[in-house]
Amino acid sequence: MKALLKRMMPRRVFARAIRLRDRLRWFLLPLRYARGYAFARNWKECAAAKPSESPSSNTPSPENPLWNYFTGLTEGHGIWKWEHYFDIYHRHLSRFVGSPVNLLEIGIYSGGSLNMWSSYFGDRCHIYGVDIEEACMAYESENVTVFIGDQGDPGFWTRFNSEVQGIDILIDDGGHMPNQQMVTLEKMLPQLRPGGVYLCEDVHGIHHEFVAYANGLIAELNKTSSRDVLGRETTPFQSSCHSIHFYPYVVVIEKHLHAPSSFDAPKHGTQWQPFFTA
Ligand SMILES: C[S@@+](CC[C@H](N)C(=O)[O-])C[C@H]1O[C@@H](n2cnc3c(N)ncnc32)[C@H](O)[C@@H]1O
Repeated sequence: MKALLKRMMPRRVFARAIRLRDRLRWFLLPLRYARGYAFARNWKECAAAKPSESPSSNTPSPENPLWNYFTGLTEGHGIWKWEHYFDIYHRHLSRFVGSPVNLLEIGIYSGGSLNMWSSYFGDRCHIYGVDIEEACMAYESENVTVFIGDQGDPGFWTRFNSEVQGIDILIDDGGHMPNQQMVTLEKMLPQLRPGGVYLCEDVHGIHHEFVAYANGLIAELNKTSSRDVLGRETTPFQSSCHSIHFYPYVVVIEKHLHAPSSFDAPKHGTQWQPFFTA
């Protein structure tokens, strides 16, 4: 139908019709959201696809050094994390192990997670901790720098960024209020180095405001900027951000190491069916 209209209509009229169609689609989005949510809520697994239900299946693999550190910690400075986060950390962060990485964790609490990151990434890692509680200054050390401030205050991040550059990994485990999470992302995601990883934790529950916000980021990540060729210039956000990952209670954003300037879809091969020409 689209191909037919394209052939029949003058180019500019066709382009305007497509723009109008996209605007109308906007009004359908809540319906699509509701359909996806209903499908997931009423989920029925095919018998052959059922995963095993061993009692330990939700705990991370014993080969995960972060999990081993956490379970082995029976005394000393406390760490408080959801168990399934350890596989997410290891999946997105293992490539930094042993390298001179700068990690920022918002939410220090009792200091144990700062020690865990140090142990995981090694001697060349520097940790920055941020907390609203003055008592957390106690966790400063040679490879740990602590800043006291409110992550929901944009002015705090302006001051932070005037003192610290070159963050590779940011873990937001602070106040967990959606507005704090959004302010932090807007001030800090543009600051992350190429190849950097941004994790926002504890986005619990349906209709979470930060998750809705992250869906807005996805809209830009998925944007097409021209319609009639299979090669598209990237937007500034697409050139910077590689991917956005959703897990239970965690959103992860990875930045590109090398910024792409376009997305292309070339055809390779010589034999083609006649029925699809788009
Ligand atoms: C869940 S705890 C952090 C847990 C720690 N990362 C761990 O793994 O054990 C949350 C921390 O965020 C801090 N916090 C709460 N509101 C904050 C805010 N607005 N800005 C910065 N830190 C905040 C609290 O003082 C608390 O220490």
